[in-house]
Order: sequence, then structure tokens, then C-alpha cells
Amino acid sequence: MRKPRIAILGATGVVGREITKITEELEIEYESIKFLSSAKSAGTKIIFKGDEYTVEEATPDSFNGIDIVMASAGGSTSKLFAPEIVKRGGLIIDNSSAFRMDKDVPLVIAYVNDEDLRKHKGIIANPNCSTSQLMLVLHPLQKHAKINRLIVSTYQAVSGAGLAAINELKEDTIANLEDKPFENKCFKKPISFNVIPQIDVFCENGYTKEEMKVVNETKKILHLAEDTPISCTAARVPVFNGHSEAVDIEFDKSITPDEVREILKDSFGVVVIDNPDNFEYPTTRDASGKNPVYVGRIRKNLAFKNGISLWCVADNLRIGAALNTVRICKKVIEMGLYGGR
Ligand SMILES: NC(=O)c1ccc[n+]([C@@H]2O[C@H](COP(=O)([O-])OP(=O)(O)OC[C@H]3O[C@@H](n4cnc5c(N)ncnc54)[C@H](OP(=O)(O)O)[C@@H]3O)[C@@H](O)[C@H]2O)c1
Repeated sequence: MRKPRIAILGATGVVGREITKITEELEIEYESIKFLSSAKSAGTKIIFKGDEYTVEEATPDSFNGIDIVMASAGGSTSKLFAPEIVKRGGLIIDNSSAFRMDKDVPLVIAYVNDEDLRKHKGIIANPNCSTSQLMLVLHPLQKHAKINRLIVSTYQAVSGAGLAAINELKEDTIANLEDKPFENKCFKKPISFNVIPQIDVFCENGYTKEEMKVVNETKKILHLAEDTPISCTAARVPVFNGHSEAVDIEFDKSITPDEVREILKDSFGVVVIDNPDNFEYPTTRDASGKNPVYVGRIRKNLAFKNGISLWCVADNLRIGAALNTVRICKKVIEMGLYGGR
């Protein structure tokens, strides 16, 4: 099989730049590669593997002859271009939420549900960042015991809301320390020295859309029964990068904290740091810029039968977006799931 012709759509964005970097890190093989953005950034120069590339404005014809598109250009752009890509025989690995819950679209965390990739019809979706890190932790445990109930509380960094949000935390913090007024734009409340219990809009059931993404995407990726009780509370915290999660899991049979440590210690993409006697547990700073999901504070949950509580942190721009996109791309190439479909 010939090597794929690849395009990175949204190459000038926060996630797109990470995708570009990780494509080099994971040594993705390709016949050709191109970088696409909107008209605004067309002409921008990108250095990739030591060569200079000029970013082009994405149009439907940009996808002529392209096998794999790694897209992080927002939902409306994906909706616009996905049919054009598929029509031309290409495959889009999409970071937006546009297609995640579509029945015909595999929602995949690489090394968790790779076999679902085989069902693709030209679109593969990358899960939401808070779901992504959780899957690498729950999947290996699920092989030991069935998940009967799940409660997740997230503490999410501002980088998950893009560059403007990163700048808002910086500027609001400085204004606060200098006792100057500041008008918040990205968030509904001031983000500096604050915790905001709202990410995305509210749904009719009182949960936010972000919280319902964790609920629905977890069921789809882990193939859990639709009626599995899952609840999530998602909060935005004044951290630049790296999401943290407190997770309570009820299993159908007993599992000890030591067994959980043993299972996770040998699991792909997970690092256990768990020695409270020496104050050893992962913090968000440990995870920023790194690939693994770090897990600690593993203990018996006192409220659930057969319950375990744990804490996990990860780089939301990496495992929550770009790293998983590129890992999917690598799997698609290894499994020969592009071109000639
Ligand atoms: N940030 C995260 O942690 C995260 C995590 C998971 C998923 N995502 C998703 O990934 C996507 C990108 O997020 P981001 O934070 O990287 O956003 P961003 O920094 O604003 O970047 C957006 C990128 O999309 C391009 N773009 C916008 N409209 C376009 C159009 N009509 N045609 C072609 N390219 C277009 C932009 O090009 P210009 O430079 O020309 O404007 C830019 O390259 C979003 O769907 C987001 O929901 C983000």
C-alpha cells in the first residue's frame, strides 16, 4: 500500500500546531503533506521536519487526492469540508464535536477502541478532552470488572478554550493583582483566583453540554449500556494547561486499590504516581507538555459498594486533542484503513 497523502486542516490554531509537532514526533509516514487554514492565515510559513511549508487557504479542491485529513478548525468548518473530503475518497479525523455522536462515525481513543476504526465511512471523531484522559484509565480497569456507576468531577484548564482564554487568564490575573478593572470576555465570570462551575452552555436537564459530552462519549467509546448511570460536574479553574479529574467508579465486583495500581501500572499511556506517605501524587503541572495520563490517590471509595476513587491529570492539548488525533492517524495507516475504500 502506498504511503498516505496527508493534510492538516486548522494548522495555524492551538491544536493544529500541536498536531503538526506530534506528527513529526510519532514519525508518521506520508507521501506528501500540506497545511491548511482559513484565508486569514494563508501564507503563514510552517517549519516541519526542517522544511518550510506555506499554509494554504482551505477550499474543497484542497482535498483532491488527499487520503487523510487531521482537522481542528471548529465544527462548522468540519461540517463544511467533511462531505467534500469523503466525496473525494479521503478520510477526516475530526477534533470538533460536529460528528462525535453520529451513529456511523467511530469515536476513538487510540489503544482503547481501535477496532471501531474499521467501521468508518470517511469520518472518524476525536473525543472531548475531558473524556479522552478518562478512557485510558477506565478501559484497562473495565477488562477486570464491569463499570456499574461513574461520577466524574473535572478541573479544566483555560487552554481548552483556545488562545483567547489563555490570554484572558493572564490579563485578568495581572489586573487583579494591580487592583485594576478587567472585563472578562471568554468566560461568564472572572477566571483569575476563581473556579467557574460552567463549561459550555446549559442543557435542559441542568447539566452543561461539556458534562453531557463526558456522559455520552464515555458510553460510546467503552461500549457501556445506554442506561449505565454516569454523572459529571465540569469546572473551569485558573490553570493554563492540563485538566485534572476526580473519579469515583463502582464496579460489579470487588477490586482493591492495590489491584487497580497493578493494572494501571502496566497500561498503555498511563503512569501511576501514588505514594501519599511521601506526598507523591500527580498534579496538573506534572502533566503539561507530556503524553501520559498520570493517576494517583487510588483508594477504596467509602460511598459505593465495590467502589474505587482516583485522581487523574493529563495535558488536555495533547491526549485531549492533538496526540490522540495523530495516534489515530498512525493506527489508520498501520491498519490500512485509508484510500481505495
Ligand atoms: N483547545 C483544545 O483543548 C481543544 C480540545 C479538543 C478539541 N478542540 C477543537 O479543535 C478545534 C480547534 O481548536 P483550537 O483551540 O485549535 O482553535 P484555534 O486556535 O482558534 O484554531 C482554529 C484553526 O482553524 C482554522 N480555521 C478556522 N476557520 C476556518 C475555515 N473556515 N477554513 C479553514 N480553516 C479554518 C484557523 O485558521 P486561521 O488561523 O486562518 O483563523 C485555525 O488554524 C475546535 O473544533 C475545538 O473545539 C480543541
